[in-house]
Parts: sequence; structure tokens; C-alpha cells
Amino acid sequence: MKTKLKEDVDIRRTFAIISHPDAGKTTITEKLLLFGGAIRNAGTVKGKKSGQFAKSDWMEIEKQRGISVTSSVMQFDYEGKRVNILDTPGHEDFSEDTYRTLMAVDAAVMVIDTAKGIEAQTKKLFQVCRMRGIPIFTFMNKLDRDGREPLDLLEELEEVLEIDSYPMNWPIGMGKGLEGIYDIFHHRIELYHPEKYDGERFVSLNEAGEIEGDHALAQDSIYGQVLEEVELVKEAGNQFDEEMVAAGKMTPVFFGSALTNFGVQTFLETFLTFAPKPSDHETQEGQKVSPYEEDFSGFVFKIQANMNPAHRDRIAFVRICSGEFTRGMDIILQRTGKKIKLANVTQFMADTRENVENAVAGDIIGLYDTGNYQIGDTIYTGKLNIAYQELPQFTPELFMKVTAKNVLKQKSFHKGMAQLVQEGAIQLYRTFHTGDYIIGAVGQLQFEVFQHRMLNEYHTEVIMTAMGNKTARWIDPEDLDEKMSSSRNILVKDRFDQPLFLFENQFAMRWFADKYPDVELKSLL
Ligand code: G4P
Repeated sequence: MKTKLKEDVDIRRTFAIISHPDAGKTTITEKLLLFGGAIRNAGTVKGKKSGQFAKSDWMEIEKQRGISVTSSVMQFDYEGKRVNILDTPGHEDFSEDTYRTLMAVDAAVMVIDTAKGIEAQTKKLFQVCRMRGIPIFTFMNKLDRDGREPLDLLEELEEVLEIDSYPMNWPIGMGKGLEGIYDIFHHRIELYHPEKYDGERFVSLNEAGEIEGDHALAQDSIYGQVLEEVELVKEAGNQFDEEMVAAGKMTPVFFGSALTNFGVQTFLETFLTFAPKPSDHETQEGQKVSPYEEDFSGFVFKIQANMNPAHRDRIAFVRICSGEFTRGMDIILQRTGKKIKLANVTQFMADTRENVENAVAGDIIGLYDTGNYQIGDTIYTGKLNIAYQELPQFTPELFMKVTAKNVLKQKSFHKGMAQLVQEGAIQLYRTFHTGDYIIGAVGQLQFEVFQHRMLNEYHTEVIMTAMGNKTARWIDPEDLDEKMSSSRNILVKDRFDQPLFLFENQFAMRWFADKYPDVELKSLL
């Protein structure tokens, strides 16, 4: 093993930020980037109001709706660590995209609005994190506003998400009454308005966990109340357990305010102490590939077309799992066995894209793609000859029939369709006999994005006819008898030519299962 490679890999910290829309994911990302010196001005990540260039808003639809549809990657250095942050779309309609992004990270940060607590989407995304078994760190945001009681929030977190929690700090007041945070982990108090006191942001605590000497805060009744609460939490709550954190069974909880940049730096520093470095990745055969393995390998977890409309480019995002990438290297694309030279590869440094010369396990690189890659593809060098585990797909629940409005636009219609399907933006099916196009999605917004992108990127107006909710179930091609198709289901093929039925509803599916007990009906995630 090369010592240099090990050193480089060990400083990588690669994580995703997840949250319900509006909890403050973009704001905190921006603050982290500011600390890392990756951006100079707030508003660079998402300039909703400032109108500045918004780098995680590639698409107009995101700006119009104020949601983040795509996920982007940002990298910066902080105190000797190389940090890779992967943004995820907050809206639940894009959870499949979030899921794939979570497959590419080693930890997740969950941002929660203290006024709202655990929202539906947080719950769903959290379950996805847990399935991955990665450490989850929680940031309870918007402390500068009146929110719910901290104890109440922790209780809800433990109950709804079924995970142990450990408060790394405790709020001293909230909203207008916010005085600071009692930092249990660092044994100090961080003041919200140091200028109100003697100007020092941090106040150290003695053995008993109290302020030594006479500090004006100690006279405040809120201080006494917080000491009591912290005592209670320490006695009745969980003990901090690093192994449990690493296994995703305990989440360290931080309170703060991203907007006013309070508690964010402490969060970042503590997070970087406990967030894991890159570790082994498992192949389909169950072989574990070490990040220190000299041969390069990685997998495509996202394909994004037209990130830069001026260039009409398409980028395949790869999580490097082992070894080192160097510009110009030849890799093998496992699915096809094809040898490809990686000449044009980018890395994302906040608001810029740069050509990468080299990158190591833990990093995310963007390969310019001329149509070679698909989501889930493994690439490698040397003798590795491996395939990483497949990226799970969600079973779509909503379906639409699609045609091009203008028959003369067939070529761009097919091209757009093929590319958006390869990106994983939408699922495509064809009816068995007539070959009509049916698209499937997990959420309604995916259709809107699809329609918008077909028009803007492929200049094709599409007509979509809603088919409503359907229950999709795959069957073994050998079990297929076309007589099974009835008025209660539609027989279609997916893009790999695998047959499936779109049942009208659960009832129709059960009726089918009763009638054909030997036919196994399979769903995705
Ligand atoms: P998201 O990416 O999770 O969707 O959330 P985002 O950061 O865009 O934040 C959502 C809204 O919450 C924004 O206000 C943002 O300014 C606000 N916000 C984020 N963190 C805090 C915080 O710590 N305290 C307070 N008080 N507000 C916070 P907006 O008015 O909806 O958006 P904008 O138009 O100002 O961008």
C-alpha cells in the first residue's frame, strides 16, 4: 500500500446534507463553504433573493419553485481535512435521486427546523440513511427563532426515527431570548451576543460544568434553568458512544442558527472529528475493496445532462472507492468491458468547476460523458474486474402516456427521452404491442421537470396524459402469458425489456395474485 495514498484518503470526509425543504440546508451549506474559504459571499449557493448566480440551481424550474431538484457536489479544505459535500434535493418527489446520492457518501447531516421538528420528508430520508448504515449527524436549525423545547425535539427524534440521540450542546434561550449554547461536548459556553458581555465568544466551564467567577450570564435566570436541563440530560440521557455513532445508531445533535452563523463552526469542527474517513466498498460478489487498494475503482451514482446549457454537456458523477484517479488514465467500464480514456474530468469547487489532475478514494469526480455511462456503472483499472452493488431503484407509482406534440420532432423527442431516462430523471416503459411510451415517477414534480427539460433542452413539446396511480410489479419473462393482460392492468416492458404489469390498484394486483399463484410479482424499493 502506498503511504501517500493512505494519507490522502484518510483526510477525506464525504457527506450529504439532507432535510425537509426550507429547514435551512442551503444556508448551512453556504456557511460551511464560507468557513472552508470555498466561496467569498453568502448567496453564492442559492441566490433566491439576491439574484446572484445560483450554483446549485441549474434549472430555471428550481428557481421558480424555490426548491432544489438536482444535487451538486462541493469540495473544500478545512483544518487539514478535504471535505466533499453532496447536496440533495429536499423535495420528496426526488427521493430516488437523494437515495443514490446517499450511496456515494460516508456520512449524512440532517438539518431540522426547531420550530417544526421531524417533518415527513426528514423521516423518509432518514430511513434511507439508516438502510445505508451510515453515521447521521443532526443540526437543529433556526435557534434565532422561537421553536419547540429542546427536550421535546430530542424525544420526537428518538421516537419517530427510532435512533438514540446525544445532545452535543444545549440552547440557552431561543428566538429573541437566545443567549448562546451550552457546549456539553467541549465543556464551554458559546455566546450569541458576546458584545453584550465582555466580548469573548467562548466562556469556559469548571469541573462542575458551571461558569467560574462572576459572568453576567450566570446572573440570568435562563442560565440556572439550562444547568438543570443539562444535568437532567446527562443523568437520564444516553452516554456519548462513538461506536454507536459510527454504526448510525446514535445521532449527535447540535443546536444552532445557520442564518446568523451561530454554532455552525463548532458543528463543522466536531463533525469533522467524528465523521468517518472512506472505508471499504462491497462488490456484487461480496468482496470488500479497500480505499487504499492501488487500482482505481468507482461507480456512477448520478448522471446530469446540460449542467451548462451553453455547452450541452453531460456529466457522470463517480464516487471513487479505491485508488487514485490521474488525468488521462485508461479505465474499463465493467458493464461493456470497454476501455475509456479519462481525459476530461471535472471536480467541483463550490462555484467553479475545475479540471482535475488527480483525486483519490472518497472524492467525487465528474466525467464528461458522450453516452457511455449509466447510473450504477462500475469503472476500474488494472486487474480489479469488479462490479459494485447495484443502485436500488424505487418502484414508480405515478404514470403518464407521452407523445411528442409535433410529429416532426420525433428525433429530438427520442433523444431527450433516452437521455433523461439514462439520467434516472424518469422511468420509461413501452406498451407490449404498440410500443407506446409510458413514463413512471415517484412524485408528480418529476413529470414537471421532465416536461420542462424536454422543452428547454430538447426543444420538444410533449403531450402527457395522466394515467394516475398504478401498482407496478415485475414478473419473470418465463412466466409471461399475454392472456394475463386484462382491463385491470397494462402489460409493459421496462427499458431493459423486462415485462411488468401496471395494476389499476392493489385490489387488481391481489386478484391477479390469486388467479396466478405461481407467478411471482416483484417490486423495486
Ligand atoms: P433549504 O435549502 O433546506 O430549502 O432551506 P434554505 O437554506 O433555503 O432556507 C429556507 C429559509 O429559511 C430561508 O428563508 C432561509 O433564509 C431561512 N433560514 C435558514 N436558516 C435559518 C436560521 O438559522 N434562522 C432563520 N431565522 N432562518 C433561517 P427564505 O426567506 O424562505 O428564503 P430566502 O428567500 O431568504 O433565500
